[in-house]
Amino acid sequence: MDFRIIHSDCIDAMRELIAGGVQVDLIMTSPPYADARKKQYGGVNPDYYAEWFSTFHEGFWNILKPTGSFVINIKDKVVNGIRHRYVWETIQKLTSLGWHCIDDYIWVKKNPMPGYWPTRLRDGWEYCFHLSKTKTPYINQDAVRQPTKESTKKRINYLSEKYKYRYASENQSGFGNNLSHYINKEKVLPSNVLTISSISKSKKHPAAYPIDLPRFFIKLLSPPGGLILDPFAGSGTTGQAAIEEGFKPILIEREQEYIKDIEERLNGNQGIGTKVSTTNVP
Ligand SMILES: C[S@@+](CC[C@H](N)C(=O)[O-])C[C@H]1O[C@@H](n2cnc3c(N)ncnc32)[C@H](O)[C@@H]1O
Repeated sequence: MDFRIIHSDCIDAMRELIAGGVQVDLIMTSPPYADARKKQYGGVNPDYYAEWFSTFHEGFWNILKPTGSFVINIKDKVVNGIRHRYVWETIQKLTSLGWHCIDDYIWVKKNPMPGYWPTRLRDGWEYCFHLSKTKTPYINQDAVRQPTKESTKKRINYLSEKYKYRYASENQSGFGNNLSHYINKEKVLPSNVLTISSISKSKKHPAAYPIDLPRFFIKLLSPPGGLILDPFAGSGTTGQAAIEEGFKPILIEREQEYIKDIEERLNGNQGIGTKVSTTNVP
């Protein structure tokens, strides 16, 4: 198994990795959400979140390969009954710093927490933003193709000839589409709406994401066997997904208690205690 677990603030750790010539194929992460879990790991006021997050920009930018991708899983927060748009502000800030926002994915939770709110319903989804330094980042769509649903096959066959053979997009998106290619196709691309149960495998970390979320993006956005960085590693879910799929993770986490969680999870008990514990990752 090839992985690295680094117990450090991620800005310092990324600086050292960059100085050592490390460049990664994908940054896959879920940073601390605004005002979240102050006792466990701080908590940043949503009004200042975009500014705070931009302090990590230089490290993310310099550690990512030119054709690499950066995926951020995050959720807006309700402040005084109203959705605060700190997430949009953060993405706009990153865009102003040079990142391209290639797409917004929506992670739909199969099992959102029950509850009651006077003016809204249960929170059932979160964002995953796909950012990159180039407009044409590496992508391996074949790695995530899904069997074509019978309903999709029927829908294509039901279309008029005009729509089956349409070449240029009619909504000015810049993408042409010839639906006739998909007649009788057994596999199609999934959509950018990902339905995944929110049950995580970490019983200790309060904000772990489900392993199938990083698994999807790792397979889609890194060349096989590539280097995957999670700078806010938490319980190491990204690391476990990467290892299971044959990729090499670098996990950075500031809190000692979660480092233990990661070690147990990845069974990588070699040499932690110094800043960097490593196996064979370059
Ligand atoms: C939302 S959690 C990530 C959970 C993770 N995706 C999982 O599945 O377990 C964010 C993590 O970032 C860590 N963190 C916060 N600031 C950090 C920093 N500056 N450097 C490294 N880790 C940090 C926190 O301790 C926390 O564990």
